[in-house]
Amino acid sequence: MAMRLQDGTRVWVCGASSGIGAALARELAGRGCRVAASARRADRLDELAGSARGEVVPVPVDVTDREAMMAAGEAVRERFGAIDLAILNAAYWGGFSVEAWDTEVIRRHFDTNVIGMAHGIEAVLADMRRRRSGAIAGMASLAGYRGLPRSEAYGATKAAEINMLESLRIDLRPYGIAVHTICPGFVHTELTARNTFRMPFIMEADDAARRIARGLERGRAEIAFPLPMLLLMKTAKMVPVRLWAEAFRLVPPRS
Ligand SMILES: NC(=O)c1ccc[n+]([C@@H]2O[C@H](COP(=O)([O-])OP(=O)(O)OC[C@H]3O[C@@H](n4cnc5c(N)ncnc54)[C@H](OP(=O)(O)O)[C@@H]3O)[C@@H](O)[C@H]2O)c1
Repeated sequence: MAMRLQDGTRVWVCGASSGIGAALARELAGRGCRVAASARRADRLDELAGSARGEVVPVPVDVTDREAMMAAGEAVRERFGAIDLAILNAAYWGGFSVEAWDTEVIRRHFDTNVIGMAHGIEAVLADMRRRRSGAIAGMASLAGYRGLPRSEAYGATKAAEINMLESLRIDLRPYGIAVHTICPGFVHTELTARNTFRMPFIMEADDAARRIARGLERGRAEIAFPLPMLLLMKTAKMVPVRLWAEAFRLVPPRS
């Protein structure tokens, strides 16, 4: 379902205090959308609201807090009248190591990334169903396509998000609600700043935001980029399971 991202389209961006979310909030506000920006760091949201070209309303919230997310969704609707597009982008990334297996690290990833996304969906779904319109865009990652080294926590959440959004797309079709799955490759943000390994085809957050906005306007079910990384990961999907781990024998281990 194509959508217009201009002239007062009402958008809620979760995870908007930095990186891709902040760039998206700026991009959409610059196009004339009314943007509500959520994350925990209220000072960053205020900065964003002050510097963006167009309307950005800070709505600070922790996505792991269900009640607070329901209240935040309500606050956005009160301000804008309704939410046309919810972009659920908040995420946590921490290192992971099998040498120091810690289920709490996995729980933290799932609480923020998967449960946080589920809270975002819950906060907008009833109203969108009632209005029989709206769109939900979930930020997953090409890292969710296959199991990657040291990605037992983060990668698993991204695979779960891809699957959840795919099911949601089927179930929301009868309600006229669009569901978009966003799968970027590497993007320069705070999340990737700590990576010490080479990140192929890495791009700037503003570039990613423009590609995402374009994909949403064209009504793409999956917005995945950049093309070389997408092709690499689509090909990787076809590698038989028994050969996948073998292939990593050729890759030097990360420190
Ligand atoms: N960078 C990449 O290479 C890349 C590639 C593929 C996918 N992605 C995905 O893109 C999305 C954005 O990541 P990014 O790279 O832009 O990283 P980022 O700059 O670290 O942004 C993460 C955002 O999530 C928010 N957030 C984290 N925990 C939260 C919580 N509990 N409640 C509310 N907000 C929370 C952060 O805000 P506060 O800390 O202020 O709460 C921040 O605004 C993520 O879903 C990530 O998985 C990134």
